[in-house]
Amino acid sequence: MKKNIQKIQQFKNENKKITVLTAYDYSTAKYFDEAGVDIILIGDSLAQVILGYDKTSDISMNEMQIFVSAVSRGVKDALVVADMPFMSSQIDKSKTVENALCLIKAGANAVKIEGCSDFNIDCIKHLTQNGVPVMGHLGFTPLSINALGGNKIQGKDAQRTIEILNQAKKLEAAGCFAVVLELMPKESAEFITKNINIPTIGIGAGKGCSGQVLVSEDILGKYDRLTPKFARKFANLKEIILNSAKKYCKSVESGDFPSDKESFSLDIEEIKKLESYK
Ligand code: KIV
Repeated sequence: MKKNIQKIQQFKNENKKITVLTAYDYSTAKYFDEAGVDIILIGDSLAQVILGYDKTSDISMNEMQIFVSAVSRGVKDALVVADMPFMSSQIDKSKTVENALCLIKAGANAVKIEGCSDFNIDCIKHLTQNGVPVMGHLGFTPLSINALGGNKIQGKDAQRTIEILNQAKKLEAAGCFAVVLELMPKESAEFITKNINIPTIGIGAGKGCSGQVLVSEDILGKYDRLTPKFARKFANLKEIILNSAKKYCKSVESGDFPSDKESFSLDIEEIKKLESYK
């Protein structure tokens, strides 16, 4: 059955851990959905792990829409959430609404917005009051990597943890249905989770969150430019892809591929005609 934001809240209320994975293409999204993943996120990590850009901020709205439609065509049950790319929700309110609606039109059920500035809060309120569900994102927010001074753990003491809690409360009041907590001590994330009503989805934030999210290319062992400490490899697709391509090249070069079973044949009469052709 299709999951909605009410179901996600119910999971938190019933202490059922919420499972979230990123996906960027039709078939991976379809398999994650069949596996029972609750939320499928088209994260702007797509910029790095799929498109090979250096930063998550390099992806454009146009590119994002293509991947959102591909993923949403593969998903039946999971809630589909699309990241709002850099600059698509930071410039002006009506442009933010227009961009969010483009992602919804492409097939997303909700959008994710990083950060908690007054401008963000205003946009989030506007979106949620007009029926667009929004997931927040606090702690380490990759789009603000320059302002944060690098991939740094956030909420590293009680005061900074309380600051993030206050931001999470603002997001909850603005109508966010959940909030991602990225890269922070597990005690800080658990404290925030216990002190807000909406679910928290952790990434590098320990097991005290209401759910967990990881980047699919990390759990599948496919992207090798960066291996975050918090990401567990559940498969080694890089090895599988490398070995399959090597075996393919060997089979083609040796004449083993394609075999007769993998080829089409002419009728014998037609073969004879070709043989007598001068
Ligand atoms: O872009 C992304 O994949 C994300 C997750 C890591 C939460 O924002």
